[in-house]
Amino acid sequence: MIIYREETKSFYLSGKHYCYLMRVDGSGRLQNLHYGAKIPSDDIAYFIGQIGDPVSRELVDLNFYANERIFSECGGYGRGDYRSPSVVIERKDGGIMSEFRYVRHTIEDGAPALEGIPHVRCGGQTLIIYLCDVCSDAEIELNYTVYDDSDILVRNAKIVNAGKQSFCLRKAFSFCVDLPDNNYKILRMHGAWTRERTPEITDLGHGIVRLQSTCGASSFGIHPFLCLLEQDCREEKGVCYGVQLVYSGNFALTAERNSFGTVRLSGGINDEQFCWKVKGGENFTSPQALLCYSERGLGELSREYADFIREKIMLPKFAFAPRPIVTNNWEATYFNFNNEKVCALIDEAAKLGADTFVLDDGWFGKRDSDSSGLGDWFVNEKKLVGGLTKVAECCKRSGLKFGLWFEPEMVSPDSDLYRAHPDWAIHKDGIKPIRGRRQLVLDFTRQEVVDYIFRAISDILRSNDISYVKWDMNRFITECYSASLPATQQGEFMHRYILGVYNLAERLTSDFPNVFFEGCASGGGRFDAGMLYYFPQIWTSDDTDGYERAKIQWGTSLCYPLSAMSCHVSACPNHQTGRMTPLSTRGAIASLGGSGYELDISVLSEEEKNACKEQIAAYRKISDLMLRGDLYRLSNPFSENYFCEMIVSKDKRCAYVVGEQLRAIPLPNTRFVKLVGLDEEKLYRIEELNLTASGKTLTFVGVPLPNLQDYESFIWHIEEVKHDC
Ligand code: DGJ
Repeated sequence: MIIYREETKSFYLSGKHYCYLMRVDGSGRLQNLHYGAKIPSDDIAYFIGQIGDPVSRELVDLNFYANERIFSECGGYGRGDYRSPSVVIERKDGGIMSEFRYVRHTIEDGAPALEGIPHVRCGGQTLIIYLCDVCSDAEIELNYTVYDDSDILVRNAKIVNAGKQSFCLRKAFSFCVDLPDNNYKILRMHGAWTRERTPEITDLGHGIVRLQSTCGASSFGIHPFLCLLEQDCREEKGVCYGVQLVYSGNFALTAERNSFGTVRLSGGINDEQFCWKVKGGENFTSPQALLCYSERGLGELSREYADFIREKIMLPKFAFAPRPIVTNNWEATYFNFNNEKVCALIDEAAKLGADTFVLDDGWFGKRDSDSSGLGDWFVNEKKLVGGLTKVAECCKRSGLKFGLWFEPEMVSPDSDLYRAHPDWAIHKDGIKPIRGRRQLVLDFTRQEVVDYIFRAISDILRSNDISYVKWDMNRFITECYSASLPATQQGEFMHRYILGVYNLAERLTSDFPNVFFEGCASGGGRFDAGMLYYFPQIWTSDDTDGYERAKIQWGTSLCYPLSAMSCHVSACPNHQTGRMTPLSTRGAIASLGGSGYELDISVLSEEEKNACKEQIAAYRKISDLMLRGDLYRLSNPFSENYFCEMIVSKDKRCAYVVGEQLRAIPLPNTRFVKLVGLDEEKLYRIEELNLTASGKTLTFVGVPLPNLQDYESFIWHIEEVKHDC
């Protein structure tokens, strides 16, 4: 709901449990008054009448330090507010000071559809506040989209050059909100290849905490998600604020606590290496930020994000569609396969009950190792005699769908594409390009390059019966420079690159609407809400070890739905860690997402094959719960000796619990796990334990955790008595 009150020049925005209050002060500044608990809209008088204007115009004129006390919605630069600005505009004469004042506003139904960049697909109601810059010809449009049934507030900004002379945008953040002093803690997620999204909570302290990526993607290192927590915030209680971006390129999210304890939360495209020329009459649109307020802990924050991404970001056709249960040949064969091997895997996959076979890296060009072939998107007939048609036939015979791997953004120096167009690879003349996995990145800032790759991939998809594409990306950007951009616009490179990626993703997903696209970047190196707009699931990590994967999926679930995570059972010893974990545990952990198998299933024992068959049949039964249910994290594998998660259906009639003991303990303490999310009034049965108890008992007393061996796991199916899940 959005209410504007002319008498107080105030805005009241609200969602399910939060409200967001702003006012235009006497000098035309747009100030935040409150972001948090949903207080009555009439209480705006309390803020204006009783708390008073904390910073009067006179005080600001007399003492510019007062500027740092203003709760600004769009931080300016060089006018006495020394916190991080939201927008920095460099004019022709080099001047960069800015101060933003309210001009007018409109309230519209729906959410803005941003051109060329992923955005929420439906809304809501949107408040657009138009600001002018008293120091330049820039005008800023701040967008706020709210939903009555959600706690997500969507924000972004458009910067318009209303003058004649072009200016350079040195910073164009998507949002800025100032919160009062509250001694917050901050949660961030760090990681690396094979250990993505490790949560870390520290005190915020003073100064700036800046989370950012500079590698051209949302990255492994620091995830584009930040959360402020009140000191007593826990998994299922307490206040926290989250923010993530619908963006996949270089980002920055900052939390800045200044001398007065106020916390400025802001973020958007990383302003390092960024400089965007805006000509007179043109504009620049920043990506959307998804802000979330929760007063019921991190768990509720995650569930709000999960619902929002499923309902409003993912492609509606796939958001709630059963995920294809795949078998993928990568860890089964790597580059070493031929028709016989592939068909053997397909036959076995069909016997296990999988529904899609994905042919991974190595089917094209001269691709017998990772040193050649990328960019040559035509089948390697030496390896696959008869081409992809033969593989498709094998799939058809076995009743499986056919999926194919691509790495659209890359080129191998040893490839026909590179030999024909060496200038298409990102490079700077005179500087030897750094290779990553022996490959170079194509210059996706150039439309002709994107067009070529679009045609090459379209040809393959059109001439083969392909229903699934895995879009990989195995290195980040270096030598960011494009021969097609003038010297003054090289600062646009990183953003233009990701716009090129979005352009290709948009065209492929709209021209092939029945193809299910899975994102991937050496595992989870580009896992973000921007990618989820095109790809309903992303390969979560190359690490499928039964222990490490549980932790990676726990972290990922903080701000994404389970269905966004592609999760496979792989071989033991695990190829990344060398660890042995039971097949049952690998299956249980992989059931908490889009499940599949990535090992040589043709060499499994009969007993193992039967176990996989049973896992797949069992997974089909809980698939709807995984797609639509609410996640409750019960035991944190980073701080406890158990991983335990539970999914509960929205109607609270069915639930599914997966637990994994990390280290076996002889004669352990008796421990109960308290279930969360059930209806206290309902009576439930836990199938595997043959136990019946009320929701109240399961919630407040819990269920004894079994004492298991290292990495052993359990699964409980819970259903309301007299209900069939
Ligand atoms: C990295 C991916 O994460 C793997 O699953 C696999 O597709 C390889 N690339 C293939 O090169």
